[in-house]
Amino acid sequence: TTYKVGYFVGSLSSTSINRILSKALLRVAPEDLEFSEIPIGNLPLYSPDFDNDYPPEARALKASIAAVDAILFVTPEYNRSIPGALKNAIDWASRPWGKNSFDHIPAAVIGASIGQIGTAMGQQSLRGVLSFCNARQMTSPEAYIQYSPEVFKDDGEVTDDSTKEFLRAFMAEFRTYIGMVLTVLPRPQE
Ligand code: FNR
Repeated sequence: TTYKVGYFVGSLSSTSINRILSKALLRVAPEDLEFSEIPIGNLPLYSPDFDNDYPPEARALKASIAAVDAILFVTPEYNRSIPGALKNAIDWASRPWGKNSFDHIPAAVIGASIGQIGTAMGQQSLRGVLSFCNARQMTSPEAYIQYSPEVFKDDGEVTDDSTKEFLRAFMAEFRTYIGMVLTVLPRPQE
């Protein structure tokens, strides 16, 4: 079975190390996972005033999530939490009330920082948000990636074998996890 995975990069930086990490993950992922990025940088700031009439960017966001089997978050930690741009996208997708795009969706979380903490606090914060949104989160393995330009080339090539194997195992486990969740909770058909 092929599974469609939509991924969010939580950074809007043109030199994002999390974007590089996303490229690395796509390179080592099982071949039967099909990836598409779900952009967040074009969204206006969410307001309930839009609930009756979402703008095109926000409709596209919700349609993109509806079209995939699972979602992957690759995000930096900002001030010990998640970047505002990512939180804004999640808020859009979680609404209008009763039309939460994340309900029961299989999800995985990973992130990279320059420092040793590897986005651990940011991921904890994201997990709290995703819990409330009722996403089905893979809880293990956790993946707190310390970025270095020697290990991660800009095109996503990983030069260190143990790091590469760790990322490969993370994506393999996510594939298994997606299969488990969808067996019990098939994605709603449009
Ligand atoms: C950071 N950074 C950061 N790093 C960290 O380990 N914990 C943190 O809480 C923060 N907070 C933070 C806030 C803001 C506003 C910025 C701009 C940065 C540093 C961060 O890890 C570093 O800039 C990464 O390069 C961000 O990831 P991207 O954007 O390169 O993917």
